[in-house]
Amino acid sequence: MTHIELTVNGAKQSGEVEPRLLLIHYLREHLGLRAANVGCDTTSCGACTVLLDGKSVKSCTVLAVQADGHAVTTAEGLATDAGLHPVQAAFRQNHGLQCGFCTPGMVMAAVGLLAENPHPTEAEVRTGLEGNFCRCTGYHNIVRAVLAAAQAQAQAEQEQAETAEVRA
Ligand code: FES
Ligand code: FES
Repeated sequence: MTHIELTVNGAKQSGEVEPRLLLIHYLREHLGLRAANVGCDTTSCGACTVLLDGKSVKSCTVLAVQADGHAVTTAEGLATDAGLHPVQAAFRQNHGLQCGFCTPGMVMAAVGLLAENPHPTEAEVRTGLEGNFCRCTGYHNIVRAVLAAAQAQAQAEQEQAETAEVRA
């Protein structure tokens, strides 16, 4: 067994894990965080996507011991007391989900994508999410949701800048 210490959704976690334990199983079975799903276990579908230090990763491809000392964010960690994360809100408003199985992974991949590229084109969104499969094939609305989230984030940033300017 190996001792690990990490931050998950802002909370410190520690424990003993098998060196071969995958991060997805650590999150689901040790911490009870079940938003990230196991769709394939072969790095193909993206249902298990989470953020590792702010970058989206497929947690079926990362060992829990590799997350030692790092920060993991799952879909459970996105919303705040103020409400849904802009990406979650945009998925809801644009009907970016059907059965919902791919959705937590798709949302986390979108959050990672917008962190790297806050103003993506439609083509960049499609390319950025190509590692995430939706078996309900709702891609059109998913892309629309990510573009809407990018727009909402840009607008919020502009409003914050204007407020700061007025206060200065
Ligand atoms: S379960 Fe990880 S990519 Fe499919
Ligand atoms: S909404 Fe069903 S798999 Fe994507």
